[in-house]
Amino acid sequence: MNKKNSVSIHNLLSFLTKFVEGRISYIDNENRKDPAFMHYYNEIVRYWNRLNFILSRTTNLNNKDKKLKSDTIAKYLYIIFCYIEEKTPLDKILSEINIKNQDLRFIKKLTRFSFKRALERKPTIEKLSLIYAYPTFLIRHLESYMQKDFLKENLVQMNSYDMNTDMFSFFINNLAIKNGEELNILLRDLKDSKIEVVPDNDFSLLYYTLLKNKKKIILSHWYRTGKIIIVDKASLIVASVLAPKEGELISDSCAAPGIKTTLLAQLTNNRSKIIASDFSYKRTKEMNSLLKKLSIYSVFSLNSDSITPVIRDDIKFDSVLIDAPCTGSGALFSNPELKWRQNFNFLKQNMILQTKLLNSGINNLKPGGILVYSTCSLYAEEGELQILKFLDKLEPINLPEWVSNGYKINDQYIEGTGRLYPSIHSTKGFFISKFKKKE
Ligand SMILES: C[S@@+](CC[C@H](N)C(=O)[O-])C[C@H]1O[C@@H](n2cnc3c(N)ncnc32)[C@H](O)[C@@H]1O
Repeated sequence: MNKKNSVSIHNLLSFLTKFVEGRISYIDNENRKDPAFMHYYNEIVRYWNRLNFILSRTTNLNNKDKKLKSDTIAKYLYIIFCYIEEKTPLDKILSEINIKNQDLRFIKKLTRFSFKRALERKPTIEKLSLIYAYPTFLIRHLESYMQKDFLKENLVQMNSYDMNTDMFSFFINNLAIKNGEELNILLRDLKDSKIEVVPDNDFSLLYYTLLKNKKKIILSHWYRTGKIIIVDKASLIVASVLAPKEGELISDSCAAPGIKTTLLAQLTNNRSKIIASDFSYKRTKEMNSLLKKLSIYSVFSLNSDSITPVIRDDIKFDSVLIDAPCTGSGALFSNPELKWRQNFNFLKQNMILQTKLLNSGINNLKPGGILVYSTCSLYAEEGELQILKFLDKLEPINLPEWVSNGYKINDQYIEGTGRLYPSIHSTKGFFISKFKKKE
């Protein structure tokens, strides 16, 4: 558990109060640097439905006459999290926060609360939703495609987060580190700074280290000078599935903040032409700084809408990467707030965008050109079912064997599609597909 102080708790309760009121606020850098704040904020949001369920059973929240104020709700959710989830002794929790007489009834009920008893007679989906802390929408959607135990394994994996044992990955920028000797100096330097690293089994320049070393890495000369980039393995897999070649004209149509763009440039030794477009001005600016920092000069960045590209009609690409905007249902580990935005409208909104982006991406591809379409989503609607709409224009290409099968649609796998699952690959949940445009 992270060490907290009165400032962490005060800030935490004020951010949780805003979340209770439905106002998701940007967490400033000061709070981001406070591990106790980040731990409690992320974990309380991650288990939001479960904690609120316990709150409803330990207060008169349903009684409109006795409506609790949002700051009291935030305080009670914090107490529930510490007491039920982290098993912190009650007297320790109460010594940290300001308790009033009217809180005593809630505290007494909390000490008698039994989760097992409270779940009795709940329908299965609701039970799963409360036990694993995911919206019923997500569970209903996934259970038609995943076996029950496999679904549970993935739900658990996307919740687990331990600063002391979890790892993050970083990639060596092969455009900046010229030879094996320089790589050895880098690795030796990390070792001298007590940063233990482990190489990845599939990618030679990908390494892992403990999350607690992240700050040291970010402050290191290697990171600041663009010799190391923090990337997840899924991004590297997507970029390498495209298999870009030197001299090619490549479109990265949803590019910012540019992680996969930079990997495409590295995989082609800065010798391809990559048009990297993104709709968001702020994210395009972030991408531009990243490209500059990593000495990447083979990328032309555009702040534009890829549905109606600003490229001349007669220019056709050798390959197109569409790393499309999506619900992020495979990335809930790193973004727990997103859990509670999973609903039909959000999914529908993303599906419409994805169909339009695919349509225009395929149109911009030359015959025989390569399309890679990916999303960090676990929903078939943002993966296999999107691809089905375009199969008359596409021929499947096999994916590497370490990408697992995608979902079966009408009892059949769709060739050219695959998935990364959190419980198998220890990455975000990703849909990946690769096709050739028919001649
Ligand atoms: C999943 S993110 C891309 C991540 C990026 N490929 C990377 O590896 O860093 C999706 C991106 O699509 C962008 N986007 C959404 N709608 C778009 C559109 N119509 N045209 C271009 N970009 C769009 C979003 O701004 C967002 O940056």
